Amino acid sequence: MQTEVLRVDRNNIDQKIIKKAADLLKKGELVAFPTETVYGLGASGLNDESCKNIFKTKNRPIDNPLILHISNIDMLYNLVEEVSEDAKKLFGLWPGPLTIIFKKSKLIPTTVTAGGDTVAIRFPVDEIARNIIEEAKIPIAAPSANISGRPSPTNASDCFFDLDGKIPLIVDGGESRIGIESTVIDLSEDIPTILRPGFYTLEMLREILPQVRLDDALVDDNVVPKSPGQKYKHYAPKARMQVYVGDRAADFIYKKARSYRSQGIRVGVLIFDDDMERFDDFYKISFGDRNDLRQMSHKLFAALRQMDKMGVDLILAEGVMDNNLGKSIMNRMKKSAAGNIEYL
Ligand code: TXA
Ligand code: MG
Repeated sequence: MQTEVLRVDRNNIDQKIIKKAADLLKKGELVAFPTETVYGLGASGLNDESCKNIFKTKNRPIDNPLILHISNIDMLYNLVEEVSEDAKKLFGLWPGPLTIIFKKSKLIPTTVTAGGDTVAIRFPVDEIARNIIEEAKIPIAAPSANISGRPSPTNASDCFFDLDGKIPLIVDGGESRIGIESTVIDLSEDIPTILRPGFYTLEMLREILPQVRLDDALVDDNVVPKSPGQKYKHYAPKARMQVYVGDRAADFIYKKARSYRSQGIRVGVLIFDDDMERFDDFYKISFGDRNDLRQMSHKLFAALRQMDKMGVDLILAEGVMDNNLGKSIMNRMKKSAAGNIEYL
């Protein structure tokens, strides 16, 4: 299959391209499209066969349920059994990078929920995503548009790298503004629980729902996560990766990088602007200003993929403290590095 990539300017959206994407989705085809978090691999969320095709195309484990994307709150009511007062309070964050888990209605195909009785719903704020869903007039199932296990794509060329020849269309809306996936919060049980940290942090959500807690698996590595997707290998670059956190991290990375290189290992470093100069003769990418965690989350996945393109064997990366947005970033980095994190 030939994969077409069509560029859409979000300040001047070409409705012909939006219609083309929506028509393909309505016909049951898969389309990759931008959202404010990462690119999604979309299918009609009411078509079981199309949803099955998402799993096949991404090589996704079948027990990992999909998020349904909507373009207005009215679409929600058919898809869920009940909308609680807590959910209504969170609607203040919609549209935006927040996914809410509800008890599902009968309308939802079993493939979407992986056989479970809950469904994940997200109302993205990205104009292109909203236009496509609005035009298709159906909820769109969309996991991140990567082959399972790889870093989520935050631009069209990273989507193309993973999906070329597998889907008919990638809608190119430039770089995803946020760069890490939505926060997933489960409201299907008594206590609202964050299953995946994202742009909206525990601290921010507690201002709206003070009783919000983190899923035990986000606090204790020995607990099985409630969100199936959290238990799989994830966000992994081809290279092995080690993460260092703390005041001495950059010095440590410098020493390690030189030592590994002297053993003939191709080393790449992921560091901050203030350390770029001293790593002049290494493969290197900056996360930006070390005090700007939003910039870091925006750059993380693209940087991991860039490191692979540079062909490094080993990535040495500086991580950040595990609170606020840092918690969401470290959740991803920990998986990229297969748990290989050292606090110095
Ligand atoms: O930002 C995002 O959420 C992106 C964009 C495209 O919207 N999508 C995304 O989808 O990250 P995906 O499939 O890569 O991650 C969805 C996560 C997985 O960890 C999955 O296990 C969890 O949400 N999930 C989906 N439905 C669930 C459910 N009913 N109960 C618990 N977890 C669920
Ligand atoms: Mg994903």
